Amino acid sequence: MAQRILVLHGPNLNLLGTREPQVYGNVTLAQVDERLAELARTLGVAVETGQSNHEGELVDRIQRAGHDGVQFIIINAGAYTHTSVALRDALAGVAIPYVEVHVSNVYKREPFRHHSYLSDQAVGVIAGLGPFGYEAALRFAAAY
Ligand code: DQA
Repeated sequence: MAQRILVLHGPNLNLLGTREPQVYGNVTLAQVDERLAELARTLGVAVETGQSNHEGELVDRIQRAGHDGVQFIIINAGAYTHTSVALRDALAGVAIPYVEVHVSNVYKREPFRHHSYLSDQAVGVIAGLGPFGYEAALRFAAAY
């Protein structure tokens, strides 16, 4: 059976492509997800992608992952990265290994973006590689 990988995008990532293009670039979320689907076929893994602007919905999806066979999570929690104990607890609760992705290099930006509630429990963190970060994370997850 193909490895099941969940890719979760948090708040405002639905605006990728138009949102602050000087920070996040011109690639849309639909294009990111399409590229991941293509790459998943090449790698022989099953990828599901989802986006929500709502913390509780992200928590619900992570909890479901705990019993629907997801083996690896790739998460860009957006601003919730810097605020959400609930997302941290959900990820710890299901104990599914995950990689944290950020399109921008959060360490080059405002100090409040330097702290993440997710990083110390993540297998790894990718920041600043633009949309390629998701692709790198998927390649890593497929080999994990
Ligand atoms: C982000 C970085 C966060 O600080 C920000 O709140 C986002 C996007 C990124 O992908 O670079 O919404 O996670």
